[in-house]
Amino acid sequence: MRKNIVAGNWKMNNDLAQTEALITDLKRQTQTSNAEVMIAPAFTNLWQAFQTLKDDTIEVISQNMHFAENGAYTGEVSASMLKSIGITTVILGHSERRAYYNETDASLAKKVDAALANDMRIIFCFGEELADRKAGKQEAVVENQIKNALFHLDASAFKHIVLAYEPVWAIGTGETASPEQAQDMHAFIRKTLENKYGHTIADDMTILYGGSVKPGNAKEIFGKPDVDGGLIGGAALKAEDFYAIVDAF
Ligand code: PGA
Repeated sequence: MRKNIVAGNWKMNNDLAQTEALITDLKRQTQTSNAEVMIAPAFTNLWQAFQTLKDDTIEVISQNMHFAENGAYTGEVSASMLKSIGITTVILGHSERRAYYNETDASLAKKVDAALANDMRIIFCFGEELADRKAGKQEAVVENQIKNALFHLDASAFKHIVLAYEPVWAIGTGETASPEQAQDMHAFIRKTLENKYGHTIADDMTILYGGSVKPGNAKEIFGKPDVDGGLIGGAALKAEDFYAIVDAF
């Protein structure tokens, strides 16, 4: 089923005390939206965040995981480790992971398989760079990212996957895709899924937009028919702004 989701990606921000303070602020706000709300704190704070929010509607999710179950991968965290502390949703393929840690479609396909094998839900991110858009190649780039990392899956896997279109040129730059640009790409993504898996899977897919979503532009972006929510970076670090975005639904 298609859902409305607003997920806050905290990236490498907030130590333990700051994590607790932000969660306290979030719990103080009254939420009037019917969107599912998620936050992704750093690995070191996931356990504490999960404990604090386990009876709350806010879901605590992970920013990343490794594809292996365990082994000699210094500094990495596996799906089963996340599951063991209660985390059942993971963000995969964020453009910062692709750009700074050489994550490729092929390595992401392995992470997708590992997450699914562990019954985790995936928020799968992708999006074109500015040069791609300037060259008019944004659809081809996005189509390849989706095909290469996801199209080996059976149709049944897609109920565990949420897609997040994040044009790289709009992340952390203050530059947002216009609501029309977001809608056009989301419709294209849905069509790409439909061509491979049929209408029902495509229609049921939750597709989030990410890239400089703020209280001031959320309503217009989320108002587009193929935009089902947002993955929020900078504006997720202030409870007031985050909830203003959540309440845009
Ligand atoms: P931003 O980040 O909202 O700060 O642009 C979005 C993201 O990276 O998910």
